[in-house]
Amino acid sequence: MGRWLVLGGTRFLSRAVAAAAVAHGHEVVCAARGESGTVPDGARLVRVDRDVDDGLAPLRGERFDAVVDVAIISYRWVREALAELGEAAGHWTFVSTMNVYADLSRRHGGVDDRMLEPRYTDPVGPEDFGAYGSIKVASEQAVNETVHGRALVVRPGLICGPDDVSDRFGYWPGRFARGGRAVVPDAPDQPCQLIDVRDLAEWIVACGERRTTGTFDASGPSTTLGTVLDEVAAAVGAPDLQRVPMSPEELIAAGVLPWQGPCSLPLWLPESHLGVVDRDTGPAWEAGLRCRPVAETAVAALNHERALGIEREREAGLTAAEEAELLDRR
Ligand SMILES: NC(=O)c1ccc[n+]([C@@H]2O[C@H](COP(=O)([O-])OP(=O)(O)OC[C@H]3O[C@@H](n4cnc5c(N)ncnc54)[C@H](OP(=O)(O)O)[C@@H]3O)[C@@H](O)[C@H]2O)c1
Repeated sequence: MGRWLVLGGTRFLSRAVAAAAVAHGHEVVCAARGESGTVPDGARLVRVDRDVDDGLAPLRGERFDAVVDVAIISYRWVREALAELGEAAGHWTFVSTMNVYADLSRRHGGVDDRMLEPRYTDPVGPEDFGAYGSIKVASEQAVNETVHGRALVVRPGLICGPDDVSDRFGYWPGRFARGGRAVVPDAPDQPCQLIDVRDLAEWIVACGERRTTGTFDASGPSTTLGTVLDEVAAAVGAPDLQRVPMSPEELIAAGVLPWQGPCSLPLWLPESHLGVVDRDTGPAWEAGLRCRPVAETAVAALNHERALGIEREREAGLTAAEEAELLDRR
């Protein structure tokens, strides 16, 4: 069994990776501030703060068989982790994003698609989040150069399931479980791809064990928005649920956003971004990625929603009042 380091480990994907590595019998160290949550049972937290100078000092001199870094939007974090730990690491996984691609409308693209220009400076504030993709491009470059021959770069699709902090996929199980008349985008044929956080974590750990290298788009099977919403409704929908389709034009005119944010309908995307939910993930599947049925993800996401409170203020989705107003317009 190996010695694993997860840079993160206190929430969502990195926590699921740490949990999967523990389940595989590895010794697992999670390095984080410990502010977002706890590390999974069986893992050990080493407190680090990557925002401060020399923040990874508590890990100095350590050697790991496998390192997983989920640095979301900081080139400096990635470079410093590589400088501190890269040489001694047996295998290095960097979790990137499909937002690295220059043309997000391109359907069924692969990892060799044209990417954004790299950006080597970190964001200066939340309004600079547009730099996400370009900073990930620079981060991927740094990983591939520094741990050349030992690096796995994973570009996930929409990550769903328990403990999701984005409130996106979970909106639908929460909404359908509440029942009654639910507004859905009238876009049943829109492509859709998503991945349960537990499946992605399991695959990342398996890749670390097998020393899989290269770059992969990692998401579930290609399906449609209509099929995903059918599967969620069948798994968790209340008996009196009635879906009310509204055209994208109608929704946009009413101020409803696609994908994420306040007053949005998650999973729904404009043409300009459909490439993000319609990628060629065949190579990841050939490298062992396996995904559970959407129904299982929906049940787990609903449990998470219920634990947080379905009626809470959300990061994404419609409030009951926003939805009622839309339905009244009809
Ligand atoms: N969600 C999606 O659908 C999606 C899709 C594509 C790609 N991705 C990628 O997937 C990854 C998601 O990672 P995640 O779910 O584990 O969540 P995350 O929100 O990126 O958090 C990761 C970890 O960073 C730690 N952290 C934050 N600030 C820190 C600091 N100053 N010093 C040290 N550690 C710090 C947090 O712990 P503490 O707060 O306890 O320190 C947490 O454990 C990201 O790389 C993202 O770009 C996500």
